[in-house]
Amino acid sequence: MARMSIGSRKKQGGMKLGAALAAGIAEPPAVLDSEIARRKTEHIDIVMSGNAGFEQLSTGFERYRFEHCALPELDLDAVDISTTFLSRRLRAPFIISSMTGGPVLAQRINLTIAEAAGICGIGFAVGSQRIALEGAAAAGFGRDLRRLAGPVPIMANFGAAQLKEWDGPSAGEAAIEMIDADALIIHLNPLQEAVQAGGDRDWSSLLSRIEALARRLSRPVIVKEVGSGISAAVARQLCNAGVSIIDVAGAGGTSWAAVESQRAPGPRERRIAAAFHDWGIPTSEAVASLRTACPGTTIIASGGMRNGIDAAKAIRLGADLVGQAATLLPAALDGTEALIEEIAIQTEQLRIACFCTGSASLATLRSATLLDAATGKATT
Ligand SMILES: Cc1cc2nc3c(=O)[nH]c(=O)nc-3n(C[C@H](O)[C@H](O)[C@H](O)COP(=O)(O)O)c2cc1C
Repeated sequence: MARMSIGSRKKQGGMKLGAALAAGIAEPPAVLDSEIARRKTEHIDIVMSGNAGFEQLSTGFERYRFEHCALPELDLDAVDISTTFLSRRLRAPFIISSMTGGPVLAQRINLTIAEAAGICGIGFAVGSQRIALEGAAAAGFGRDLRRLAGPVPIMANFGAAQLKEWDGPSAGEAAIEMIDADALIIHLNPLQEAVQAGGDRDWSSLLSRIEALARRLSRPVIVKEVGSGISAAVARQLCNAGVSIIDVAGAGGTSWAAVESQRAPGPRERRIAAAFHDWGIPTSEAVASLRTACPGTTIIASGGMRNGIDAAKAIRLGADLVGQAATLLPAALDGTEALIEEIAIQTEQLRIACFCTGSASLATLRSATLLDAATGKATT
């Protein structure tokens, strides 16, 4: 496993065990002391509490419905929802999005996800490898992920803000090598950092660093948001910088302003964060506008994807793949079987959505008739 010291760690803080950890997982004292590990555990607890969603803003997928086809002329079991991503075959166009949980919880979640993804034949991304890359703890990021996952795509991950402190290409190669990944995800989370006590505030000159990374890294660079979406204008900048895959991670699912407002150290910080609860570009809008703005780019739809019908709508609007984090988290914490079952349900929902639109494959789903749910008029 590659580990390197490539930057300074954030200040250390005390540890209050979160409910997720209290459920039977004890971290060694050195890890317990880490401020980042504490924050990650709190994130999981808050998302699991059900209070991390948007208030008013939604993904927008409910504004669409497919025209039902009463005569599909298809064998449901022959509907082909397989696809190729990062030169690897997927049985369904799904990826499990990045989730961190502090080193020990991350280990459990990552192993569960890797095993389930391998069995289901879908891709997955690990959560931020920052702690491991800074040499503080390697738990959760080992070659056993590749062994469990087999031939499915695995994606490494760290935040764009770290490109200010680190040598991007060396850190990127180390992150990839650590887990034998097929690509590196760079996450953009300016809102989360802005409303988080002690978050990274300097987001200047990051595009040129992303470009240097994308041009020099041995594997593809994927850029994703974390729940506020990526606009067409930003997507064009990223594509011009050599990024070939974009995960919109739009609004309507996990709201990091909601999460951070609950972690705020005082009323001032809470009020600042709470105002941004509903900030972002709805996932459906982001997908549709990116497909027009960046025709040759691989687009991942994520952010509030609830089921296989949302996935079908996202693919019809221009996505190549669909990612999920919070929807899969309870199952991922439950164990491999629960996660496999959740993925199987969504896969079957997507297959039926294809069947009931008369689509024999994902390619034909892309031209299925999608209606505006309010007017009944066909969308383009
Ligand atoms: C508990 C948790 C931890 C997360 N950690 C990371 C992370 O380390 N890196 C990252 O890029 N995104 C991270 N995310 C963001 C997700 O990958 C995803 O972009 C976001 O939650 C929106 O998707 P959702 O609505 O399906 O949750 C995390 C999400 C959750 C729920």
